[in-house]
Amino acid sequence: MKSIKAIIVVVAAMGFAFACADQKPQRYSIAQSKAPEASLFRQNCAICHGPEAEGKTLGDGRAIPNIRDGEHKYATDEQIFDHISNGGNGMVPFRNMLTEREIKSLVRFVQEDLRKGDAKK
Ligand code: HEC
Repeated sequence: MKSIKAIIVVVAAMGFAFACADQKPQRYSIAQSKAPEASLFRQNCAICHGPEAEGKTLGDGRAIPNIRDGEHKYATDEQIFDHISNGGNGMVPFRNMLTEREIKSLVRFVQEDLRKGDAKK
């Protein structure tokens, strides 16, 4: 009797585990987002970084990094802010194209929605 109970418990636990595993983590979709930062990204950044910021290789062979997954060269808010403002290594500077507020909102977007947001969900 004891062993049957144990089996039931194990089977139930397995069922629960499978049910959880079934819920695929939801990735933030830039294309579907109505947030103003997502719109800024689509207008200014997607041409190089790809529609979902996953990076791409341009026609001339330049590799543009994935902004959301993996290791990041620019990890702190300050580094990302400086990089978007001043560009460098193939990225154009945005300080004259976007306002400081827009650049700050993009820093938050990269950090919270794309990097941490994906891991959280
Ligand atoms: C002309 C193409 C181009 C455009 C447009 C562009 N980027 Fe980049 N981006 C790059 C390249 C090339 C790098 C790699 C720079 C390096 O290695 O230092 C980069 C790097 C980055 C990184 C750092 C990635 C890392 O590994 O830490 C971030 C964040 C970033 N871009 C955000 C943006 C945002 C936000 C925009 C729009 C406002 C944008 N980029 C527009 C080409 C571009």
